[in-house]
Formats: sequence, structure tokens, C-alpha cells
Amino acid sequence: MFKVHPVDPKRMPALLRAMPKAELHMHIEGSLEPELMFAMAKRNGVTLPYASVQDLRNAYVFDNLQSFLDIYHAGTLVLKTEEDFYDLACAYLARAQADNVVHAELFFDTQTHTDHGLSSATVINGLHRACVDAPQKFGMTASLILCFLRHLSEEDAFECLEDILPLREKIVGIGLASSELGHPPEKFAKVFAKARQLGFRLVAHAGEEGPPAYIWSALDILKVERIDHGVQATRDTALMQRLAQDKISLTVCPFSNVKLRVFNTLADHTLGQMMDAGLCVTINSDDPAYFGGYVGDNYVQTAQALRLTTQQAYTLAHNSLHAAFVSDATKQQWTHQLKACFESFVEHDY
Ligand code: HPA
Ligand code: ZN
Repeated sequence: MFKVHPVDPKRMPALLRAMPKAELHMHIEGSLEPELMFAMAKRNGVTLPYASVQDLRNAYVFDNLQSFLDIYHAGTLVLKTEEDFYDLACAYLARAQADNVVHAELFFDTQTHTDHGLSSATVINGLHRACVDAPQKFGMTASLILCFLRHLSEEDAFECLEDILPLREKIVGIGLASSELGHPPEKFAKVFAKARQLGFRLVAHAGEEGPPAYIWSALDILKVERIDHGVQATRDTALMQRLAQDKISLTVCPFSNVKLRVFNTLADHTLGQMMDAGLCVTINSDDPAYFGGYVGDNYVQTAQALRLTTQQAYTLAHNSLHAAFVSDATKQQWTHQLKACFESFVEHDY
């Protein structure tokens, strides 16, 4: 690993924001800010059960994953047209660009929206158009990962996969999201095998609230390349060794984990412990409109709470670039940019 010069702690926030990074775990529906939610409700003739933006924000207090998912689901009801999905993705990409995100992989699902009467093409075409426009509009690249909803059946997931096949080229990967406890990865063994056959890259949420056993089965049964969250792995020494040995990337979301009460505070987060154990950890925002900040805020506040070093900051950014679903040549180019960024922060004594 490239050795970096320590920077003055006062300059760490600026470095953390400036360094080129990839965001690999964010649900596009979770980036719907209250202001945009109200604007879309108005243009689509939807009545929200909240009197104002502030009233809505005040409702964002959660006890666990399910209590969040209920409010999050209600918010998705304002999304109706291809334009809505395009606007939603562009609003996120603008925020990502401001944090020097060079590449984002956007999670989305179609099952929520087809259940509301939309077609999967409405969702995918709107989001994909934003990804196509991202280089010229936001100076970054973006791609799409379709998540199956795990509280629904495997049969529903198969139906969803069949439904999106005509738009297969617009989607890079398949993931697994929604209520984790009681819905282990192996419930989706057959549909993930099919997705693998079709050439999709595979990821799954595992070990957010669920036990280490869910991480094992995401790896061994679903054969995913990355684990989303994975923070419960610290409870299983053999699993920690497996994750380190096989260089499995973990898309960790510190703000999310505190908001959903996985950890009491950022200072209690095990991200530093996971890095010390040699795991390929990345930092992500999950649902930035609901959890109090975008990816840059996650880096800055987590680094402060855990007293991360300059070297750890470099490693986190490098891990994110390395774990992205892009070519090796692109990763190499980003790594040069990353090194140049760290070198520009070195204070020379001339
Ligand atoms: N976990 C599982 N499903 C989700 C999440 C999450 O944090 N956010 C949106 N869908
Ligand atoms: Zn998530």
C-alpha cells in the first residue's frame, strides 16, 4: 500500500472531502430529500401525510431497520414518472460530485414501484438516463444495481428478474435489500444463481442486523462479490479471517448504523477494528436523505469519532475505488488521481 504523509488533523476534513472516492452503497430512493418529496407530491397530485418539510424531517427517528423501511416506503409513493427518477438521480449525483465521488453505483428496486402501478421501464429508463448524462453533467460515472426485496418471495424476485431482462444492458449488478431478520440470503439461492448465469455482478446486504451466518451464506450460497454492511462479522473470528483472506469488500454505512441503532454512537462503530483486521472496508451513505448526511459527511464525522489516520483515509478511498465494478484500467487511473490528491496535501518546508 502507498505510504502517505500524515496531514495536520485540522486539514483532515478537507482531505477527506477532496480525495477521489467511489460510493458503492446508496439507495437512490433513500436520497429523496423532503423538499424534493414535497415538490414531486405537488406535481403528481399526491397528498403526503405530513404538513411540512420540517414535520416530515421530525419523523426521521428510527428504532431499527424496519421502522426506517416503513417511512422510506411511504416516501417512494411520490415517484411516478421517468422524469421523477431522472430528477431524483441527478439530485443525488450533484451531491456526490460535491464530495468528489468519481463513481457511484446506485441501488434501486423495481418491486416497490411496480407494486404502485409503475412499469419497471419507467424506473430503469429514468435512472439510466441520469447515469448516461453523469460524465458530462457531473464529471463522474454512475451505474445501477437492482436490489430484490428480501421480505418478498423468491418467486417474486424471479418475476422481477424476468421483467427487467429487456433492459438488462442498463444494469450492472443484482443486490438484496429490505428487512433482513428472518429473510436469510439462502432464501434467494436459485434466483441469484440465475442472475450469475446472466452475467450480473452480485452483492447482498448481510450482517446489518442479521447474524454472521447471513454473511457466510451470502458468500457461499449467493456467491456475492461484496457484502453490504457486514458489520456483524466482528462477532465471528473465522468469518473475519475469511473476509480478509478472500479480500471481500464491505460497504459500511456509519451514519445508517447509528440512526438504525446498530451502534449507539459513531465512536462505538467497529469500522476501525475491521480495518485493523485487514478487511477491505469502504464508507458509504446508504440513505443520505434519512440518515443525516452524504458520503463526505460520513467520512469526516467517522474519521473524527474514530481518530482515523491519514493512512486509513487513503486506504478507505483506495478500497472504494478498488471495489467498484469497473475495468482495471479505470481503477489504475483513479489510483493515480488519489495519490496526486494526497501529495497535494503534503506540507513542504521550503
Ligand atoms: N438495509 C436494508 N434495506 C434497505 C436499506 C438498508 O439500510 N436502505 C434501503 N433499503
Ligand atoms: Zn443499504
